[in-house]
Amino acid sequence: MNILKKYTPSEQRYDTMQYRRCGVSGIKLPMISLGLWHNFGDSADLTNARSILRTAFDKGITHFDLANNYGPPYGTAETNFGRIYKEDFQPYRDELIISSKAGYDMWPGPYGDWGSRKYLISSCDQSLKRMGLDYVDVFYHHRPDPETPLEETMGALDQIVRSGKALYAGISNYGAERTREAAEILKKMGTPFLVHQPRYNMFDRWVEDGLLDALEDTGLGSVVFSPLQQGLLTDKYLKGIPEDSRAANSIYLSKDRITPELLDKVKKLNALAQDRNQSLAQMAISWLLKDTRVTSVLVGVSKVEQLQNNLDALNNLAFSETELKHIEEILGS
Ligand SMILES: NC(=O)c1ccc[n+]([C@@H]2O[C@H](COP(=O)([O-])OP(=O)(O)OC[C@H]3O[C@@H](n4cnc5c(N)ncnc54)[C@H](OP(=O)(O)O)[C@@H]3O)[C@@H](O)[C@H]2O)c1
Repeated sequence: MNILKKYTPSEQRYDTMQYRRCGVSGIKLPMISLGLWHNFGDSADLTNARSILRTAFDKGITHFDLANNYGPPYGTAETNFGRIYKEDFQPYRDELIISSKAGYDMWPGPYGDWGSRKYLISSCDQSLKRMGLDYVDVFYHHRPDPETPLEETMGALDQIVRSGKALYAGISNYGAERTREAAEILKKMGTPFLVHQPRYNMFDRWVEDGLLDALEDTGLGSVVFSPLQQGLLTDKYLKGIPEDSRAANSIYLSKDRITPELLDKVKKLNALAQDRNQSLAQMAISWLLKDTRVTSVLVGVSKVEQLQNNLDALNNLAFSETELKHIEEILGS
């Protein structure tokens, strides 16, 4: 951790990043945000993790996304982020949007999972302690809970905001109907409800089936995760599975998903991206940003170079009708 010199952020950090308003709120988010799901836990190289965070902030990425269970092991991404934050970013707290979440299994017994008031409030307290923060900017309920009344879960988010532990509430992985219901409940309570975090990428387009409309109707923004389908929407698997890749090392991306059919599509998409003078990763990000209801694309990266590559997506955001049609043909083939 101490191999790197004292950090002084780039004075040009706001010169090139583009920002989009998050729904109808007062907050603008960078069009590319950084997620700490992988590569920041105790099994990660923390000098590398720190370089990624520094590069991100230097390039105008003001939004870092965490959750209670990011690691591995669970909790360690927040602890490591907290250590780096204390050394590098503390003076810049007011320039940052830091989020955390609770909703998946976190601790043993009936109170460490899903959506009860008990779980959410305790988990938020734990996250703040691990990160060494007084508050997070956004606290999300990580996934819908079919058993807990929505009023209870939303009431917990409201309480977290009112007690000053978060500035805004968010939800993640909620379907369109439940999102509308959540918005209605929070509106009645007067809770600042900012954002939805859904998975969205060329291979997983469920949000187009009602969720994006619901976000527009309710005035919410979206921070879309796994924009590269965990790396599948890049050229990295075209010549086999690299040893240092997520497919080789993470339980969350099984090698079985890299089928000949998938690689055939990736190859065609990669050729189209090259015609646009972009990497496939860049084209996959630009493609998401063509819809202005997407506030920010939340990338994960294992290397600084990947982050730099992804940031260059912002240099070519326009698609011709022909390109869009070609993409649909490839995805539907
Ligand atoms: N709310 C939720 O339920 C939820 C769920 C999942 C994720 N998230 C959030 O979304 C964030 C991003 O998710 P994700 O990590 O799945 O996103 P992703 O951007 O789809 O995948 C990231 C992985 O793709 C590879 N990659 C990234 N840029 C590359 C490039 N330019 N060239 C080649 N490979 C590249 C890297 O894999 P290698 O390791 O192989 O190099 C990297 O770790 C998470 O950190 C988290 O904050 C939220």
